[in-house]
Amino acid sequence: MSGRTPAAPVATPRRLLMCRPQYFDVSYSINPWMDPGKPVDTTLALLQWEYLRDLYVRLGHTVELIEPLRGLPDMVFAANGATVVDGKVLGARFRHVERTAEGPAYLEWFLRHGYRDVLWPDAVNEGEGDYLVVGRKILAGTGFRTDPRSHAEAQEFFGLPVVGLQLVDPNFYHLDTALSVLAEDQVMYYPGAFSPGSLAVLRTMFPDAIEASESDAGVFGLNAFSDGYNVVLPQAAAGLIEALKARGFHPVGVDLAELLRAGGSVKCCTLELR
Ligand code: ARG
Repeated sequence: MSGRTPAAPVATPRRLLMCRPQYFDVSYSINPWMDPGKPVDTTLALLQWEYLRDLYVRLGHTVELIEPLRGLPDMVFAANGATVVDGKVLGARFRHVERTAEGPAYLEWFLRHGYRDVLWPDAVNEGEGDYLVVGRKILAGTGFRTDPRSHAEAQEFFGLPVVGLQLVDPNFYHLDTALSVLAEDQVMYYPGAFSPGSLAVLRTMFPDAIEASESDAGVFGLNAFSDGYNVVLPQAAAGLIEALKARGFHPVGVDLAELLRAGGSVKCCTLELR
């Protein structure tokens, strides 16, 4: 433990963008969780997603919706659609051709909703899948999806320090599957997902962080959304739920098992409009 005690958790209302999983399916495989041979229950995915959306509203957040597009089964994972900080929008450019059309679709939503400071990126980046804002810094994943050249592009565009982190485990292919921002100065993460150097960086920046077990990370327990106090996360992440309670947070477990078949959960479905 460092000498600094983190501030007591306080919730602040957020604006979130979500996309109904109307056309959700696992018809291709671009991460180890996706098995196109197994049938997907789209109705169940819709019910689980609606529960999450209603929960956000009950917690006092505003949820905006983007229209899902046929033929884009992963569009439900709104976190990947952009990165939004201080009203500035860095568009997403996807790694895989199966998802490329989502980039312009999300960008168009922002243009139609009055956002003017919008950048169509040069480098591949998968939005908040790999960019996580913590206080006035941005943590940035690379290794599987987002190109490290995007980190410089994001730093220049937002004018905030971008700290690059190397992901090494294909099961945790986006930063938001391996690390979760809890508050301005607090995170939780799975050490096994990071290269030794990146892990050392995390330990320097966040000496008091909650470290997730392999089993909690394996049920996507780190794919969580926090408003500073309420932490919405997969209910199967029992160890993290206890650790969060011990720190004064209010964990709220949800079941998004059907979406996990595509390698996504709570945070993946949620793009924060800052
Ligand atoms: N099937 C999607 C993909 O592999 C899942 C995206 C999950 N989103 C996230 N923010 N981690 O791209």
